[in-house]
Amino acid sequence: IPAPEFAQRLLEWAAEQGRHDLPWQIDATPYSVLVSEIMLQQTQVATVIPYYQRWLKSFPTVEILANAHEDQVMAHWQGLGYYSRARNLHKAAKYVLDSCNGQFPNDLKGLEAIPGVGRYTAGAVMSFAYDNFGPIVDGNVRRLFCRLFGIDGLPTSTAVTKTLWALAEHYTPQTRNRNFAQGLLDMGATLCTPKSPKCERCCFADDCIAKTQDRVTELPTPKPK
Ligand code: ADE
Repeated sequence: IPAPEFAQRLLEWAAEQGRHDLPWQIDATPYSVLVSEIMLQQTQVATVIPYYQRWLKSFPTVEILANAHEDQVMAHWQGLGYYSRARNLHKAAKYVLDSCNGQFPNDLKGLEAIPGVGRYTAGAVMSFAYDNFGPIVDGNVRRLFCRLFGIDGLPTSTAVTKTLWALAEHYTPQTRNRNFAQGLLDMGATLCTPKSPKCERCCFADDCIAKTQDRVTELPTPKPK
């Protein structure tokens, strides 16, 4: 499928069937996107929502977070688990304040220099906050691409990871990046689910290798037990 057609079809699907009311979709700033994406890394959307809302009430700006006390920061993470995420987020805020004059970088390289910000999070900030080119590959995109393009091998292996990022770079458009990125995540989270994906509602069903070759249960390649 040609890249422009992929984007067009995904955007159409996202407008009709995507999620449009998540709290971090409202007034997305680089700071609010960073907070939500770090929280969403290992935690479900429904669990994250109240934590995200309390966090932004208490630490509304990157400067306020940077200047907050460590114990106050940790208290706001209590119950979310993987506490190094909170320490990293605090560290990231201090870095933006001290090394970037309190202004988030607006390019992928600059964003990836922030402590705790990898390729995915940098792409998410580019897409969701700046509505600019920012390829993303997370668990949702891995599953979707492995099925759609018939990619065999462990989805987290070095070789497959390289292929997935190349595909993400290729298919990510130069415009409407916010809607494109949210559409990718929404499709992975709501249609192209690990068990019993809803292929009948997918705009790529006719192009999907997994679907057309009846390999939906074999892709992505499951971890050996
Ligand atoms: N998971 C990771 N990022 C997300 C986002 N922006 N919306 C919904 N789920 C997500």
